Amino acid sequence: MKSKKPGELLNWDDIQKVKYYWNVSCEVIRLSPPSQGSFREALNDFVFNGFSIPKGWKVSKAGSVHSTHKNPEYFPNTQNFDPTRFEGNRPAPYMFVPFEGRPKMCIGKEYVRL
Ligand code: HEM
Repeated sequence: MKSKKPGELLNWDDIQKVKYYWNVSCEVIRLSPPSQGSFREALNDFVFNGFSIPKGWKVSKAGSVHSTHKNPEYFPNTQNFDPTRFEGNRPAPYMFVPFEGRPKMCIGKEYVRL
């Protein structure tokens, strides 16, 4: 705020500087993910890992976001609120998925960040 002139608004460059704030946000949505995940409808019968999935079934895209974010192997002391876990090395790929993953990842996530 000290770098801003009176009345000057925060902009995208400012947001990049407040890293601890973003770590806090990430820890909030790790513990309370707004989305529980999404589904796709099977267009054809198929077999995956030995499971037969009939056409028309709804298939969970990424499992439960909630339980993925509480995996103690990747998030030790998983129930503790600890924004420092987002400092330095980021969580392993696909272990922090509030906006899911490519190719249908949320396009609003940077807007959400603002
Ligand atoms: C906390 C807020 C939000 C969360 C947790 C969230 C989460 C998600 C998730 C999990 C998906 C993937 C859905 C799927 O694969 O079926 C998604 C997709 C999407 N989100 Fe968000 N979202 C948020 C806010 C927003 C906002 C603010 C916008 C727009 C301004 C937005 C626009 C979209 C769009 C357009 C897609 C579809 C992307 C595609 O199909 O390629 N989201 N979001």
